[in-house]
Amino acid sequence: MLSEELKISGSFTEEVINDRLSICRFESISCTSSFAEDITRGLKQVPKVLHPKYFYDNTGSELFEKICDTPEYYVTRTESSILEKYSDEMALMNKGKKVIVELGSGSSIKTRYILSSFIKSEGCITYLPIDVSEIMVQSSKELLSEFEGLNIRGINGEYEEGLEIINELTGDPKMIVFLGSSIGNFTPVEAKRLLSSISNTMSGDDSFLIGFDMVKDENVLNAAYDDSAGITAEFNLNILQRINTELGGTFDLSKFSHKAFFNKAMSRIEMHLVSGSNQTVYIDKLNEYVEFRKGETIHTENSYKFTDEMINDLAGSAGLNVNKTWKDDRNYFGLCLMSK
Ligand code: AVI
Repeated sequence: MLSEELKISGSFTEEVINDRLSICRFESISCTSSFAEDITRGLKQVPKVLHPKYFYDNTGSELFEKICDTPEYYVTRTESSILEKYSDEMALMNKGKKVIVELGSGSSIKTRYILSSFIKSEGCITYLPIDVSEIMVQSSKELLSEFEGLNIRGINGEYEEGLEIINELTGDPKMIVFLGSSIGNFTPVEAKRLLSSISNTMSGDDSFLIGFDMVKDENVLNAAYDDSAGITAEFNLNILQRINTELGGTFDLSKFSHKAFFNKAMSRIEMHLVSGSNQTVYIDKLNEYVEFRKGETIHTENSYKFTDEMINDLAGSAGLNVNKTWKDDRNYFGLCLMSK
């Protein structure tokens, strides 16, 4: 589709696609380090580590969708069921808010419950999805055909970039949404930093809805991150495939195995890749040889699990209060509404 107009505003341009949809893109080159630099640094660290954001190339994103459908991974299903049951009540508690901002919107599947309830309550709303993926553009078009009374101003960028421009895009009361317990993939320091930036963009009239995966039976947790069909294992190993494809790596995926376990002391699931033998891997574009001992691991992900106390502490550290928490019957997952 040809864009009708390009508005240039400081750090970003806004492409007006039609009278209900525009996409904001950033001008500046992000100063976040590149895949190659991060891989070099991570594989030189002791113990070796890779950042979980690198799971999500196209294959990784598809594998994550498949994980969500495994019987063991209760997270997505449970959060959806809470939204289905309580999004009307959420809209009622946010009466007068006609703007929804979402961090990491992806294909906005679960958000549909929220959008639907807010449109029912407010008549017409504006949705500001923030996502690095172009999937957001396609899913925005789909949302517009599904929901009358919806306008979308998508923000194609990192969370922090998006948060910085929200108040330039709207001065109306808003609810910021961060679903999926994605906050669990941040270190506690990063989580506090992100919530503080969210809090800083909020006025007294705004609210913040965030999903948390709760601490539960270890067997349930361990199974969720090591499903019997081996999809999570494939997802974990895909990060090595990505190094092979994009950086000319020589990882033999059959010589690494997936390991996931609940680290109770740290209240987190840890995912690792374990080397099955002593081996050397060459990565062409990095011009680096990486040595592995048999049994040595690469730490690929943490997924923190929360208690009510941890949630209150995190909120408090960012200047936020928890006003209401909705949970499922098993207390597996919590959606918290916060304000300043
Ligand atoms: C995206 N994130 C919330 C997922 C999680 O549960 O931590 C990522 C994931 N890793 C393995 N399975 C799912």
